[in-house]
Amino acid sequence: MRSTTQTITINMKNRLEWWPQWFEKKQKYARTTEKQMDQDRFNAICAGTGLPAIHQKSTFKFENVADGANRFLGNSPSGEKPFARIYTRLGNPNTEYLEKVLFQLDCQHIIDEALAADEREPTIGSLVFASGMAAISSTIMGFIRPGDALVVGNVYGCTDSFMRYLQNRFGIEIHFTDATNTENIQQLFAQHDNIVAVLLESPDNPTLRLADIEAISKITEANEALLIVDNTFCSPYLQQPFRLGTDIVIQSLTKYVNGHSASIAGVAIGPFEFFNHDLFLVYKDFGATPSPFDSWLNSLCLQDLGIRMEAQTKNAIHLAQFLEAHPKVKRVWYPFLESHPDYEVARKQMRNGGGMISFELKGGYDAGVALMNYFARPDTPMELAVSLGSLISYIEHPASMTHSVVPEADRCERGITDSLVRLSVGTEGVSILQKALDEGLNLG
Ligand SMILES: Cc1ncc(COP(=O)(O)O)c(C=O)c1O
Repeated sequence: MRSTTQTITINMKNRLEWWPQWFEKKQKYARTTEKQMDQDRFNAICAGTGLPAIHQKSTFKFENVADGANRFLGNSPSGEKPFARIYTRLGNPNTEYLEKVLFQLDCQHIIDEALAADEREPTIGSLVFASGMAAISSTIMGFIRPGDALVVGNVYGCTDSFMRYLQNRFGIEIHFTDATNTENIQQLFAQHDNIVAVLLESPDNPTLRLADIEAISKITEANEALLIVDNTFCSPYLQQPFRLGTDIVIQSLTKYVNGHSASIAGVAIGPFEFFNHDLFLVYKDFGATPSPFDSWLNSLCLQDLGIRMEAQTKNAIHLAQFLEAHPKVKRVWYPFLESHPDYEVARKQMRNGGGMISFELKGGYDAGVALMNYFARPDTPMELAVSLGSLISYIEHPASMTHSVVPEADRCERGITDSLVRLSVGTEGVSILQKALDEGLNLG
C-alpha cells in the first residue's frame, strides 16, 4: 500500500499518477460500440452460483504469524481479495462476493478483452460501501486535493450538500452545471485548468434529464479529468457507463440492486490502481464499510435484478403513456417517451426507459398534496416514501423531501418545481397502479 507520508506534487495535468496506465487500458478494453451486455448473460451473472454463507464476523483467525503478516502485506495465497479475511472493516467474504458480481455486471466485457489480450495486471477494482453516499463521498476523498475543482451535474440532494460542504470547509471549487447540455462542460474546462473530475447522474434525480455520457467522456479525457457517473437510477441492467467512456461508476445499492428496500449500501467501480491504493485507504480508514449480512442480502436480492427491472420498466412505460394523456397532468418526464427532450440520447445509451417517472400536475402544489396523501392511505397500492427501485411503488414530492436541501433558487432553475411529483414504479401490476393513479389524480 502507498505510504501516507509520501509528498504529493500537484501537477494539474498528469496529477493522478495512475491516469496514464488507466487511460491506455480504458481505450483498449472498456469503450465499446455494444452499449449493453446481452440480456441472458446479464441474468445468468446476476443469478450466480457461488453465494457464500453469511460470515457475520468482525475478525478472522490467521494460520500462524507468517499468514497474518502476509495478509497485511496484501498477499492472498488462495486468490481471494487480500484484505477480505483479516477484519471486516477491511473486507469480508460476503462483501467480496458482492463486489465481484457487481463488477462483472458492469465490466465483464473489460475482463473478456483483457484476458484475450493476455493482460497480466488487473484493470478494474470494486468496493462496496455502507451506503450510496459513502461510495460517493469516499470516492471523491480518494483523489481530491487542495486547489482542485469539480464539475457537478444535477445530482441527488445529499450529493449536492456534500459538494457544498467540500466547497465551504475545504475550499474545493464546485462548478454546478446543467450536464444535459454538453457545451456547458466544454466551456467550464476552457475556463478552469484545475478541474479534476466531472460527476453526474443520468437520468438525473428527480427531473430525469439525461447527459450524453459518451460525448462528455471525450471532453474529460482530452482534459485528463475523471468522469464519474452515479448510475443509481439505471443499475447496470439499463446502462453500462464504462462502455461509454466513464472512469468511475457509482451506485446506491439501496435502490434497484436491493429492490426490496431492505438495506442501505453503495458500490464504486473503477481503475484498479486507484481502488487498490488511495481509495482503499479511505475505505478502511473512514470505515464506511458494509455489514456482512447486508452484503449477503444484497447478493441474494441481486439474483433477480434483471427480471425485476424488466417488469418495472414494462409497467413504467405504460404508466408514462397513461399520465401523458391524463387531463390533470401538465408534463411527463420519462426517457423513452418521444416527447422527452433527451429521447435520442436515451435510445443511444439505455437498454430501456427504466422504472422512474416524474410528472408535473396542472393543479400545482395542492393537487400534488392531494395525490400523495391519497397514496399515504393503507388501502392504496403505492407508498408515500422517498426511496426508489423497490418492488413496491413509491410516490414523493422532491421539492419538500429528497431535494429540500438544495437551495430554492438552484432547485427551481433545475426544474424541481413545487408541482413536480416523482414516481418509482414497482411490480404491483399495471392495471392496479393505473386505476389508483387515476383516482388520486382526480382528487386534485
Ligand atoms: C441518485 C442517487 N445517488 C445516491 C443516493 C444515495 O444513496 P444511499 O441512500 O444509499 O446513501 C441516492 C439516494 O436516494 C440517489 O437517489
